[in-house]
Amino acid sequence: MIYFVALVAGLAGILFGFDEGVIAGALSSLRAEFQITSLEEGMMTAAVPFGALFGALLAGSLAERFGRRQTLLFASVLFVIGALCAGLAPGVWVLTGCRLVLGLAVGVAAMVAPLYISESAPSKQRGMLVSVYQLAITIGILSAYLVNFAFDDKWRTMFMLGALPGIALFLGMAVLKDTPRWYILKGRTEDARRALQRVRGTSVSQHEIESELGHIKAAMDTGGSGRWADLLAPVVWPAFIVGIGLFFLQQLSGINAVIYYAPTVFQEAGFDSGSTQLMATIGVGVVNVLMTLVGMYLIDRIGRRRLLFLGFVGTALGLGMIAVGAATGIQSLDILAVIGMALYIAAFAASIGPLPWVMMAEIFPSHVRGMAMGVTSLTNWGFNFLVVFSFPVLVSALGLGGVFGIYALVCVAGVIFTYLRIPETSGVSLEDIEKHLLSGRPFHMLGQFAPPPMYTDAPDITQDQAHEMLTQLVELSPYRAYLRPLINRISEVGYDNHQVRTALRIVHARVSRQSRQTLTQHDMGSERETFVAFFEHIRFASPSFLEWVGEPQVDNKGDSRGA
Ligand code: BGC
Repeated sequence: MIYFVALVAGLAGILFGFDEGVIAGALSSLRAEFQITSLEEGMMTAAVPFGALFGALLAGSLAERFGRRQTLLFASVLFVIGALCAGLAPGVWVLTGCRLVLGLAVGVAAMVAPLYISESAPSKQRGMLVSVYQLAITIGILSAYLVNFAFDDKWRTMFMLGALPGIALFLGMAVLKDTPRWYILKGRTEDARRALQRVRGTSVSQHEIESELGHIKAAMDTGGSGRWADLLAPVVWPAFIVGIGLFFLQQLSGINAVIYYAPTVFQEAGFDSGSTQLMATIGVGVVNVLMTLVGMYLIDRIGRRRLLFLGFVGTALGLGMIAVGAATGIQSLDILAVIGMALYIAAFAASIGPLPWVMMAEIFPSHVRGMAMGVTSLTNWGFNFLVVFSFPVLVSALGLGGVFGIYALVCVAGVIFTYLRIPETSGVSLEDIEKHLLSGRPFHMLGQFAPPPMYTDAPDITQDQAHEMLTQLVELSPYRAYLRPLINRISEVGYDNHQVRTALRIVHARVSRQSRQTLTQHDMGSERETFVAFFEHIRFASPSFLEWVGEPQVDNKGDSRGA
């Protein structure tokens, strides 16, 4: 079942690649039919990434509010409408409008499809399954190149063919359920259980299902409320640095200069005939698809960090070779540029292509995951734009060699960034990634070191001790007026919650070493974030907390403690 899930959500990737790539081969016949100006041509081409910017902006809130499934259904309808209306467009302006609609769909789907796969997949296969999405993008690009080749000057047919994967996506999503995590977020535990059973299949015992459900719930219970303001919490920054940093590097490595301008690049590299350029372009598409498969094989085996190192080293070398080949203009060095191009595309496709998408879907805490991914994929579109627009201008100013030299330097920076910032998330559950982030320890140390000894060594505490500490912590919270009357319930929930209790144990051990009773802000240390998230969660009332407070038998329990 999980493969079917990945396959269906992967259709969104095909649509992404197709709608981006198809314009390349359609442009020449559009120019002939409409005599468009270069400004109109630019707008029509850029309408997809431009629409995608808005799609990415919308996607986060749509996915939180209506669910991942409904949002993908909505995107699939836009894909079909956009493709059909583009194929029927009477003129350039309508066509530009249709491509804006397609871009909107691409932006929404580019964020929600990896999220959907990631939230449905078991942690062992998560990396591989999310990269199915990247594979789909590359298949989409290759299909667009092939459609360009096959339909020559029939641009209407080229555009309309995009409706087919759109229809398939709609049908596939119609029979699937939403993700267990989204149901839990909405307090629909029974639906979450059913969804989880469905994606895990019959090989998994009821006990395992319940335990996974418990983990998801626990992570969400300490997670806060998912407001836009939560994105600014310092605890989310390390994840943003990783997500935005990876997309910056991915795009500034110049990939879309190659995807959009491949024939021009080959021409500069000395391929004179148009058909050779087109064949070489299809070659780029094929290497892109095949090496993405290699990346999928490696991603959960050798880990994210190692694969990124290999990717950045490979792309830096490949780009450097293209730069030297192009800058010298020596005929015999042309072959260097061609080998460099193959190496660049191969290293990109196996690593820098899929990894930002994979990691974007796993590094953010669950309460802000949807919104944070929206913001992150927004930056992807922004940098995409920057590269595609600046490429022709930069080439005329610096020459092809100079531009590829800059891209090569970006990849060298990628090696350093990976070393300093990238956490190893391979094989770690989403909940454990979240726990590590909330603990305030350096993010890139995830999976590299055992938890600090304090974590496990701190002795357990009694319920009364927890109550006493939480009472003091509430007084340090800006929400104290609201939290004070709930203190009995807060200490029960806090004591039962693994993460809050661990934080309390650590703070307790820290304070008792100094033989003190009274807590100060300073005593909270890196556990502070856990308490902040916990109190915020209660203050802004997650559905599960409200439900719990509203239960009569829970009220009795609270009363018996003297509430
Ligand atoms: C990037 C796209 C790019 C594609 C090429 C994706 O990961 O985000 O911008 O066109 O890879 O395969």
